Amino acid sequence: MKLLGTGSALPKKQVTNDDLSHFLDTNDEWIFPRTGIKSRHIISDENLEDLAAEAARKALADAGTDASELDLIICSNVVNENVTPSLSSLVAHKLGVSCPGYDINCACPGFIFAMDMADSFFCAGKVKKVLIVCAEEPTRMVDWTDRSTCVLFGDGAGAAVFGEGDKLKGTRLSAQPDPDKLYERQVLQPSPYVTKEEKASPLVMRGREVFRFAVSTSSRDIKDILDKTGISPDQVSYYMIHQANLRIIEGIRENLGVSSDKFPTNIRDHGNSSSASCPILLDECNRAGMFKEGDILVFSAFGAGLLSATAVLEW
Ligand code: UT7
Repeated sequence: MKLLGTGSALPKKQVTNDDLSHFLDTNDEWIFPRTGIKSRHIISDENLEDLAAEAARKALADAGTDASELDLIICSNVVNENVTPSLSSLVAHKLGVSCPGYDINCACPGFIFAMDMADSFFCAGKVKKVLIVCAEEPTRMVDWTDRSTCVLFGDGAGAAVFGEGDKLKGTRLSAQPDPDKLYERQVLQPSPYVTKEEKASPLVMRGREVFRFAVSTSSRDIKDILDKTGISPDQVSYYMIHQANLRIIEGIRENLGVSSDKFPTNIRDHGNSSSASCPILLDECNRAGMFKEGDILVFSAFGAGLLSATAVLEW
């Protein structure tokens, strides 16, 4: 497949580290040096499905594709206000199309898992145009009294439209199942038959362990996929890394021995927007005119599961 267009949409409310210090025992002096985050966009009166549809419309416009041409919609999402129907059904409704869709929950690497899935549909000859939308509201998952997690996240949606081609050079998906490192639990509707004890929990993250997983797995995945595709680290135009922490990105960069100008970042103004992070970064770089035909982009993302994924895409 090949990329045809990108889009993104953000909540209008932008919250700075100083804003957080008004109600939380934290400050910019702690947050910025440890994470690279200065501010994040946070959902207030918006609905996530509206942001998802807005990102999708922008990606379709950028691709010069009419929504009616879509054969499939894949939405990557961890949580939103609708348990059912799926986010892809809601997006299809808002776009006024009737193609089928799937929701996937692969946490932060969701965009790459979705690209891998879309590629299989293209390879099977089942589709000609696919829309991927990654829309996330992690600020509705965190405990807003837990300074070790709530300061890290931001909301938003990123989208990309793909058509037939041979520009996705490779993907690598991997898992190191460990449900206790990063999780949120919900209690479902009461039932007269349930006898087990149930307890809801906001997002819990063992930050240092996830940090180590992220740096080591992403570095390994990138080296591995470059080996397999016969591309050297220097031939890569840009490394599009999940924006979870600037220090994680720096650790990966050092392990690869590549200069920092190949690592675009936007974490400063967005925080960690889970699976929306990579496509929002992609869209911002695209709209800034950074890419030219033939550029090699390497995506890498990691998160709950624990899951990680890498992809090589030629622009
Ligand atoms: O997208 C999914 C993947 N997620 C990630 O990749 C995140 C990975 N982890 C991280 O990015 C880092 O581990 C964090 C940024 C979450 C934490 O950084 P850290 O250097 O590992 O800090 P820490 O959790 O070990 O906390 C150090 C200290 C603690 O105080 P004591 O116990 O040393 O007195 C914390 O209580 O910093 C304190 N602290 C804070 N202080 C002010 C934790 N959060 C805050 C805060 N403001 N927001």
